[in-house]
Amino acid sequence: MSFARFKSILSIGCPALFLLLSLSCFSQATPYVNPNVRASESLSGYWKYIVDPYENGYYNYRLEPFEEQEDTSRNAFFTDSKPRDRSELIEYDFDLSDSIYVPGDWNTQKEKLFFYEGTVWYRRLFNSTIKDPANRVFLSFGAANYKADVYLNGQKLGSHTGGFTPFSFEITSLLKDTVNSLVVKVDNKRLKDGVPTVNTDWWNYGGITRDVNLLETPSTFIEGFSIQLERDDPGHIVGLVQLNGIDRSGSEVEVHIPELGKSVLLKTDEKGKASFRTSVDSLRLWSVNDPKLYKVIFNTKEDTITDMVGFRTITVKGRDILLNDRPVFLKGISIHEESPIRGGRAHSKADARQLLGWAKELGCNFVRLAHYPHNEHMVRLADSLGILVWEEIPVYWTISWENEATYENAANQLQELIRRDRNRASVIIWSMANETPTSNARNRFLTDLAELTRSLDPTRLISAALEQSSYQGDPWVRTIEDDFARVTDILSFNQYIGWYDGLPDKAEKISWKIQQNKPVFISEFGGGAKQGYFGDKHTRWTEDYQEYLYEENIKMLSSIEQLRGMSPWILVDFRSPRRMLPKIQDGWNRKGLISEEGIKKKAFYTLQKYYLSKE
Ligand code: GCU
Repeated sequence: MSFARFKSILSIGCPALFLLLSLSCFSQATPYVNPNVRASESLSGYWKYIVDPYENGYYNYRLEPFEEQEDTSRNAFFTDSKPRDRSELIEYDFDLSDSIYVPGDWNTQKEKLFFYEGTVWYRRLFNSTIKDPANRVFLSFGAANYKADVYLNGQKLGSHTGGFTPFSFEITSLLKDTVNSLVVKVDNKRLKDGVPTVNTDWWNYGGITRDVNLLETPSTFIEGFSIQLERDDPGHIVGLVQLNGIDRSGSEVEVHIPELGKSVLLKTDEKGKASFRTSVDSLRLWSVNDPKLYKVIFNTKEDTITDMVGFRTITVKGRDILLNDRPVFLKGISIHEESPIRGGRAHSKADARQLLGWAKELGCNFVRLAHYPHNEHMVRLADSLGILVWEEIPVYWTISWENEATYENAANQLQELIRRDRNRASVIIWSMANETPTSNARNRFLTDLAELTRSLDPTRLISAALEQSSYQGDPWVRTIEDDFARVTDILSFNQYIGWYDGLPDKAEKISWKIQQNKPVFISEFGGGAKQGYFGDKHTRWTEDYQEYLYEENIKMLSSIEQLRGMSPWILVDFRSPRRMLPKIQDGWNRKGLISEEGIKKKAFYTLQKYYLSKE
């Protein structure tokens, strides 16, 4: 079906149809069995690991993959073999190898792996704790950067590409009653045709960076669901459920919202799907000042899952962003997924509490989670704290727009993100890309991603962090001339006046010619400062320079009549291999308002004052 026809059907507001279409979100290769909505057993802890820069555990000396051999060599690391007798030659041994903590990146756990990019093998032994032999068992990963090949008891479960989205494998048939050997090959090599591509401004943390869980389900289980307020008719809740298993068709499903005294009984179709639309009144809408969450329970005769869901609408009208039909100004900050406590990739509830706690302290009602999907703890905490969220996939700078596999990779990451977070009230914006150069191939690539997003979830806003340019060649008048701005719901762009573009003084001389009748959102501005370095406001890297830059940028941007929000770059200093100025950067991007030691810089208070002064 062509997207034009698609859009026209959507525009006639046929909720059931968009529900059916967005079911395709569940038709991915492997279902994601989410440990946040059902019981699970964590496999967190110390795993054995082997660093394998030459991928000696994967290929023979002819670079032929062991897993493609008829008779798999026991020198393949995924066989987790031991010499059968004193003469057998096996040149690796997980038991004798060092250990590393999962979840976590290897770069900040092992000094010798700080700069390492390549393959590391992980091995975890576990006993099966299956309660009912009729049940099924799944292995779920929150994420592994970048490519993961997963094996159980020497058998390949599958692979996953993309370092920031969740994936699962079914292991029922491979599970042993005794000890099971789980081996994961993780390769974080940067690839030209990858997503992201080879150059980024963040640290390429490698490893099993998020939680790993074992999940036991009935033979037919609730694979996924979506539930939210109907965008154009907030008097109705709409949703869908997808069953997985032999009894998926013709099964009864009850959707229960106890606090609303609401129960809806559904029957699945031959594909195990069912959608629903039910009227609601006296619903407390989720908002930043009242982040009300309702317990929602899905029951079948065999299975039950529970989630905490907020109900709200998010739309745009002319130059306004409307939350529950009321204009909202997005007082935001950009955040990288780095733990200010431990250093390295953030992954825990405590990390999320630290980062979002600082955002709240700054006076924020919004965060931009850059430049890739962050862990699920962040968005679930944002749901309960009442913080609105922008999520994006790492289509960053110049990727291979003409490469079909690159597009499929980006589309897959987008689908996995939407599948994971579609029920999060806090998430209001899906962003397709950051600072990408305009071209026909790029426009086609991003437009296809946007249309895919709208087909999966037409209830949220689409965006991208675009770049500004001079209006008709006049450097003192700036504008956004980007074809993709026609596709997005809001007009978001990054600008660095006062840092990459002149000194802060320049800001007062700049005017903006916004040609699109859309809400304007500044997805990045900012400048670097070494915490504790003070001087006059024109001395780069001083806190005073950064403070002055913020003062002047806030003044300049406030002159844009249709300004409806911003997420300055960035909450906390973060690691980047592109930032090596000694004694100032030393491997850190210093544009944070807070240092990596958690110390606030002067500009933190400049932005806080502005946000506290804004409605
Ligand atoms: C860019 C980019 C960020 C980067 C920032 C910077 O705009 O989007 O990823 O870190 O600028 O230069 O500090």
